[in-house]
Amino acid sequence: MNISDSAYIREFLINKGLKESNSIKETDIIIVNTCSVRRSAEERLEGRLSYYTSLKKEKDVKIFVIGCYAQKEQENIRKKYPNIDFIIGTRNISKIQEIIDDIESYENKIFTSLEKEYIEPAKDPSNPFRAFITIIKGCNNYCSYCIVPYTRGPEYSINSRKIIEDIKRLVDNGVKEVFLLGQNVNSYGIDSGDIRLHILLEKINNIKGIERIRFLTSHPKDFSYELIEAVTKLEKVVKQVHLPLQSGSDKVLKLMNRKYSLKHYLDIIEKLRKNMSSISITTDILVGFPGEDEEDFIKTYNAVKEIEFDKAFMFMYSPREGTKSYELKETVTLEEKKERLIKIINIQNEITVKRLKRFIGKKMTAFVENYSKKNNGVLASTYYGIPAIIDKNIKKGEIVDIKIKSISGHTLIAE
Ligand code: 5AD
Ligand code: SF4
Repeated sequence: MNISDSAYIREFLINKGLKESNSIKETDIIIVNTCSVRRSAEERLEGRLSYYTSLKKEKDVKIFVIGCYAQKEQENIRKKYPNIDFIIGTRNISKIQEIIDDIESYENKIFTSLEKEYIEPAKDPSNPFRAFITIIKGCNNYCSYCIVPYTRGPEYSINSRKIIEDIKRLVDNGVKEVFLLGQNVNSYGIDSGDIRLHILLEKINNIKGIERIRFLTSHPKDFSYELIEAVTKLEKVVKQVHLPLQSGSDKVLKLMNRKYSLKHYLDIIEKLRKNMSSISITTDILVGFPGEDEEDFIKTYNAVKEIEFDKAFMFMYSPREGTKSYELKETVTLEEKKERLIKIINIQNEITVKRLKRFIGKKMTAFVENYSKKNNGVLASTYYGIPAIIDKNIKKGEIVDIKIKSISGHTLIAE
């Protein structure tokens, strides 16, 4: 979502005639798009803000802090870095357009209301054949560890007719792949009474010129049977589902307020794989949640082993002030959290490699993403959403037939 918001800002600033700078020392405007999901992201950011504000001694550089941290820490930012020029929350991003026009005299410096905001979809800066389309903003789920419902506000869906119109316009501008985004895309349409995600996918699948459709992120509690059918049957939908499990222990899932059991999660995986055995499934795992004992961790470890995800994003629990679980006493020490994380990363790494091997010798299509100097070829995204290196110079945005020859690390090598 942050990458998409940044892409939008970049696009409208370039359309206004501003240039993207390669050097922080030479630029006149710095826009820092921030994350608050874990404390580590905030710590890195605080270091950067100290450095950026120090540049003001040398020249008149305007600094914007935007996104989740800006939304949550507006007061602290103002106190700690009084010379930051603008603080813009998650739902005021389009304000930047207005401010830039009148930057020297703009009075109000903080914009953090949680009004509904529509922003135009933007092309991926590194690949103009791909566009990010936010279909639903905010989150109503209140997983007990998560700051997002507070920083991004309640859910609201973008009108499906608007989404279709936007995509048709993007196709006219060369876009072939759309990446549908939302904190929980499975809730799409519920707040507004609009069509649901599986119907939206079907409508986009029918748009001439669109060749690939991807979407992030799904929640297991409402991943419907219709959606399983849509993902596996619609030919333009990339055969990859990102479905965060978080924990394999029902006790911990309950404490996390995730509203599903391991059994429910396994049922979805079974149905997905029954419809399409080679589908790629990725996940998020969170270790060290308060109350997670050794037995709970083993349940997560075993679930990861049993399910065999293609890829997992794995994290240590980080308490976030304002969330429900912040009130819980932390029962897992940092040492234990690290140990559990390393164990889960190690087993997942083995599984990722094992899963990749199933593709060796297989033919599939791939969307060329970028040049790869190192490999003297291109990096592409396969029909299963898994990256592949192709040893030939092919234009970005091309969709090509490939055959997988081997694997290198976590990447497929193809011809
Ligand atoms: N601590 C650690 N990881 C978190 N995530 C969300 N909140 C926290 C937190 N407080 C992880 C979850 C989520 C992913 C985007 O970030 O696994 O799925
Ligand atoms: Fe956070 Fe849960 Fe919403 Fe995802 S579904 S953004 S983890 S509250």
